[in-house]
Amino acid sequence: MNILVVGSGGREHALAWRISQSDSAHNIWTANGNAGTNLISTNVDVDPLNTEAIIQLAQNLVIELVVVGPETPLAHGLVDRLYKVGIPAFGPSKSAAQIESSKSFARQIITEAQVPGPDYHIFTDPALALSFIDKTTGPLVVKADGLAAGKGVLICMDQSSARKAVVTTMSDRIFGSAGDTIVIEEFLSGPEVSVFAFSDGISVSKPVAACDYKRVGNGDTGPNTGGMGSYTQPRFWSDELEHQIMTNIMEPTIRKLAEKNIPYTGILYAGIMLTQSGPRVLEFNCRFGDPETQVILPLLETDPIQIMNACTSGTLDSITVKWNDKPHVGVVMTSGGYPDKYETGRAIKGLENESPNSMVFHAGTRHDPDTGDIVTSGGRVLTVVGWGASIDDAKANAYTRVNNIHFDGSNCRTDISD
Ligand code: AMP
Ligand code: GLY
Repeated sequence: MNILVVGSGGREHALAWRISQSDSAHNIWTANGNAGTNLISTNVDVDPLNTEAIIQLAQNLVIELVVVGPETPLAHGLVDRLYKVGIPAFGPSKSAAQIESSKSFARQIITEAQVPGPDYHIFTDPALALSFIDKTTGPLVVKADGLAAGKGVLICMDQSSARKAVVTTMSDRIFGSAGDTIVIEEFLSGPEVSVFAFSDGISVSKPVAACDYKRVGNGDTGPNTGGMGSYTQPRFWSDELEHQIMTNIMEPTIRKLAEKNIPYTGILYAGIMLTQSGPRVLEFNCRFGDPETQVILPLLETDPIQIMNACTSGTLDSITVKWNDKPHVGVVMTSGGYPDKYETGRAIKGLENESPNSMVFHAGTRHDPDTGDIVTSGGRVLTVVGWGASIDDAKANAYTRVNNIHFDGSNCRTDISD
């Protein structure tokens, strides 16, 4: 098959890498990709957010399956447009992608499906939100309804910071129209886990779980980032927890969406908190996680193209999705200063220095035609993945490889998987 992967991060490198191992993958292109995807596929310089240009590209290349990595093209309806021109695409429709692009939509589905989550209230009027806050005590979470590049969730430990969050989101509109509706949630606490399962709109595959590390500093300190690392399987994972999450969260959500005639096809990503009263959903995402994808796709034993075709054709119940449980640890190397201001264009040295049981996925990298070097081009530059007989072995193998790679100002956490 001719396959087009849409996106340019570490997640898309991992997707292109795993797809390239399938006997069914004939030609793979990536739009717009990075220096890593160009080693295993052909990069094409087309913006994933330019829906019409992606359609044109897919038609010109006679693409038989489009795999959409990031949420924004999904929320813009790329999959719907591809279907209209007869090109199958892996990922949900615009209306099903609302599970991520509208937090109020997600909360309503969660409630109707009787899936456990925090108590919440939806507001479109800032005055009503403020008077609600005045009647509460204790911490709250204020969330912009729409996509806000991962920044729309404000954890407020007291009433005055919750009031401030409402004003900056709804009145100052720091997230633009994404904050015109907000959800105010009960603050929950406990370990967090990302859970992923394939769906064709009706069936739900066996899930896989990973933990990601969102804060920039060791010991979960400093500002939030796109993700500084991940590992699988979570130390606390068990068959019982998997069963609970499948029957109380993943299956009822897919069933409810089908019932409402919004069938969800693609990968469903649940961000779950394990509270004293059991697993509860913090958010749903309509795509693979980054950097979780880089540690979970190596566990996938079933042909990815077979799975994706089964999802797009409504035949997922005819195949068995198998994941192994070999420990994998992924360490993200970033540009110095990230997630704040950082510089790019720094030559990356040592990528060719292999070490046992490790591999490197690229994110913010590009080939510099003048020097021939691979140089940095973003905040998150690489995800270095190690594997082994235990999580500690996997961690040691990842960091051995990290220590072989150098670029000016590089930064990483040293405690991924602890
Ligand atoms: P989200 O984008 O909704 O996953 O939120 C980002 C992060 O905010 C999550 O990974 C949690 O750490 C935190 N968070 C979100 N919702 C809640 C909540 N209701 N209670 C406590 N923490 C939350
Ligand atoms: N790992 C967090 C995300 O992909 O949203």
